[in-house]
Amino acid sequence: MKKNPQTELIHAPRKAPQFISTVQPPLFRASTIIFEDTNALFNRHWTDDYDYSYGTHGTPTTFTLADNIAQIEGGDYCLLAPSGLSAINLVNSCFLAHEDEVWVADNIYGPNMEHLRNLETRYGISVKVYNPLKVDSFQPTNKAKLIWLEAAGSVTLEFPDLVNLVKKAQAHNILTALDNTWGAGLAFNAFDFSDQHLSVDLTVHALTKYPSGGGDILMGSVVTVDKNLHHQLFRMHAIQGISISGDDAAQVQRSLASMRVRYEHQSQSTLKLLGWLKRQKEFVQVLHPADESSAGHHYWKEICHMGQSAGLVSVIFKPDYTLSAIRKFCDALQLFKLGFSWGGPVSLVMLYNLKDMRVLEHTHLQQGLLVRFCIGLEHPDDLIQDIENALKQLNTPQRE
Ligand SMILES: Cc1ncc(COP(=O)(O)O)c(C=O)c1O
Repeated sequence: MKKNPQTELIHAPRKAPQFISTVQPPLFRASTIIFEDTNALFNRHWTDDYDYSYGTHGTPTTFTLADNIAQIEGGDYCLLAPSGLSAINLVNSCFLAHEDEVWVADNIYGPNMEHLRNLETRYGISVKVYNPLKVDSFQPTNKAKLIWLEAAGSVTLEFPDLVNLVKKAQAHNILTALDNTWGAGLAFNAFDFSDQHLSVDLTVHALTKYPSGGGDILMGSVVTVDKNLHHQLFRMHAIQGISISGDDAAQVQRSLASMRVRYEHQSQSTLKLLGWLKRQKEFVQVLHPADESSAGHHYWKEICHMGQSAGLVSVIFKPDYTLSAIRKFCDALQLFKLGFSWGGPVSLVMLYNLKDMRVLEHTHLQQGLLVRFCIGLEHPDDLIQDIENALKQLNTPQRE
């Protein structure tokens, strides 16, 4: 029977063929997923298993990406979230309850710390801060449930004593969650990272960085090898309505093929900048885990034995340089753009005042304002030239 044009438009007769081969997997966009019949409706297992039930629970597009992220990180199971911070939140809300204790590295990604402080105030969770270079500073009580690790740490890039921190956490039956954004699953395998086959329980990855690679998509993941942990997360993910768009998933999926090449390239460019930065008189310290003088260098060498590192390097300016001088430097940069994040094609710069960022005393860090460079895909010689030009703005240091 011929239908009205409006109905024809909605129920178009042409259907996609079941089997058609394309380079990229097909893209599914879905809130509603249509059930074949009531049997399919009543027999679905959306809280327990990968199943197609409703858009928030996943589509072939999001499950394909999740499988690939798990594989890159050396894990077995993966859940996707709309940002790295949202993935962090998923872990915290799934595994922490009233009166639990959580341990956080002092150089953890700042918003994770803020999120935990918020849980502390609202839900009576106790947040304890440890020095990632000193295992003795991690002194869990019997209320401790979770420890957050990050390798290398945010902004100051110390590489932690991962082996001993994980061993100690395991000895106390404490869940280990690693923010794996820096290593991206490429610098080292968090699920098998030393000769002793150590593994963290969970990794969180801000896919916003290298997996997206474009500086234009926000996404996060939680990966594990433990089926039971995954199922707990899976349920929390479902009931909290954490979901990502099919379009975003397809974009990240498309970028994954080039991720290793980009990571290695940015890693190499950063090493070139590191060598040059170390020779500049304006800096009192240059921070990068591959540099012998950087805190935790020997842990980096032990774990990232292929010599890989993310495209991040920080410098601390001599204390003579005032905030306004450093601002002038940042404003003078042409190729480095002022902005948060990293892992994209465009190099970025950000300035920080360490005094506001750390709870513990850190003797390895010199006094002075810190600038972090995130190295993009430009030629490293041009980036060096850009910094050299901007440094000329600082040639008359003055005290405030
Ligand atoms: C180490 C680290 N973890 C997590 C995040 C959070 O990722 P997102 O920006 O996707 O929330 C970031 C973002 O800068 C980060 O640097």
